[in-house]
This record gives sequence, structure tokens and C-alpha cells, in this order.
Amino acid sequence: MRRPKVARTLAALDRARTEFRTATVALVPTMGALHEGHLALVHRARQRARRVIVSIFVNPAQFAPHEDLATYPRSWGADLAALAREHVDLIWAPSTEVMYPAGFATHIVPQGPATAGLEDAFRPHFFGGVATVVAKLFLQCRPHYALFGEKDFQQLKVVTHLARDLDLRLKVIGVPTVRERDGLALSSRNAYLTPAERAVAPVVHRTLADCARKIAARVPIARALADGRRAITASGFALDYLEARHSETLAPVRALADGPIRLLVAARLGRTRLIDNIGV
Ligand code: PAJ
Repeated sequence: MRRPKVARTLAALDRARTEFRTATVALVPTMGALHEGHLALVHRARQRARRVIVSIFVNPAQFAPHEDLATYPRSWGADLAALAREHVDLIWAPSTEVMYPAGFATHIVPQGPATAGLEDAFRPHFFGGVATVVAKLFLQCRPHYALFGEKDFQQLKVVTHLARDLDLRLKVIGVPTVRERDGLALSSRNAYLTPAERAVAPVVHRTLADCARKIAARVPIARALADGRRAITASGFALDYLEARHSETLAPVRALADGPIRLLVAARLGRTRLIDNIGV
């Protein structure tokens, strides 16, 4: 198996990127601790482009001081082996100092879907940090395609806007969420769940699916959501939000006719925060 090239400096990245010449390039941005969800993005990247770059960078700018930056799972050896199996051409793994050198002073402040009152209401620092690093990754790697998971649905909308609004000349492609057999969306943070919490965690997806079915069957949205919120809370979660939004703008929707509708949820179980979403 051919080991992917690893670039850790901008000079090394530029050298590797130049070797791709005119080939189409797809980028899959990640924070490592790779699982089948990430690898689904890599598969899709392979289908779209001749060359595939995967970035691995745990981005301090998108973590608040009280969040899990220090304990975020890291598994470099396993990640490298998985990406070799997928025939990835290049891994872009800059250090924090390479990404944010001393004196770094520019921050992108996204609006539109980034201020929809979902993740942004609970993690106010988050989308600024994501937009800033993703813009840098796009400019560093100069891909034709960039692949993001629907798992982080609001993030997918934010980066789609970013690429369009800043004329970055690449196409953002969304990839459906990969799930465990019991419906739990794969996430690096699932590693934090205790066995008892892991047993309860699928309630999030089950509740989303129930709500979506009800709304499609013309149960009033407010009632379907109220039932869903109760079900999640009754299972021991602290609910951040369960909302029905327009799938493109993320604006609130009141009726089925206001759609297409996406249901989005965030809930905490012990020290683990789970997010998920589903189309109606
Ligand atoms: P990370 O959480 O590592 O996720 C990297 C990519 O994998 C994201 O596009 C995410 O939506 C996708 N992904 C995660 N779980 C998935 C699943 N179960 N099915 C399909 N795709 C899944 O998201 C980030 O990193 C960061 O915010 C990043 C974009 C890299 C910027 O730092």
C-alpha cells in the first residue's frame, strides 16, 4: 500500500500541489480521529477528482475555552493507515503555528446560515473559527471540490456560502450522514460516551425520524417538535434545540408548504454533546 505524502509546512504543501499539475483536486477537511463518516467523504472525493487531499487539523479557533480542545480524540497512526487504504494522495497536517503564526490578525465572520440561532446560539465562537480555517484550507490547497458531511448541516451551509461569497472558485459537495446500525450518527465525539450513554444515544436519531414522519403526515410542526423535545428530555438528555428549518436558508418554517424542511437537533448526554439532523 502506498503511503500518502504528508505535508506539514506551506512550502511542502505547495511542492506537492504543484506535482498535481492540471489534475482535478478534491479536499476533505477534517480534525482527524477518522471514522467511516470521514471515509465516506474521501470515497466521494475519489469519485469526483483525480487527486485527493485530506487535511487533519484540530482547529483551536473553533473551540471555546471551556470546550474539549485538550481532550479532543487524536489517532494519527490509525488515520494515516485508513487514508493509505483509501489511496489518498496527500495529507495536509499543519501545526497550529503554521496555521496561525504569531501576529495572526484576520478573522472571518460569517452571517446568513451562521446566525440562524442553532449551533451559533450555543457555540458563539464556532462558525467564525470554522469559516476562518476553512477559507485558509481552501486557499492553501486550491481544490476544485471540497466535501463536507450533512452530519454538520449548518456548517455545510456556512462553508457553501463562504466559497460562493468569497469567489473561491470551488464546488462544495454535501455527503449524507453515515450512521451506526442503530441510527446513531458516527462522530469522533461518540468516543466520550459511557456504555450506558451509548445505549441511550440512538434516541436522538429515532426522535428525528419520528418527527419527520409526523410532519410529512401533516401533524402540525409545533406539536411534532413538542413531542420530540419531550421524548429526548425524558431519555436523560439536556436538550439544546430541536428545530424545523428551511433546508437551504435555515429560516424557521411553520408549515410543510414552507419547506423543503430539515429538522436539526443538539442535545447533551453527560459530558458529550450530540448533534444530528434529517430531511422531512
Ligand atoms: P470533523 O468533525 O473532523 O468532520 C470532518 C468532516 O466529516 C465534516 O465535513 C463532517 O460533517 C464530516 N462528518 C463527520 N461525521 C460524519 C458522518 N457521520 N457522516 C458523514 N460525514 C461526517 O467538521 C469538522 O471536522 C471541522 O469543523 C472542519 C470542517 C474540519 C473545520 O475545522
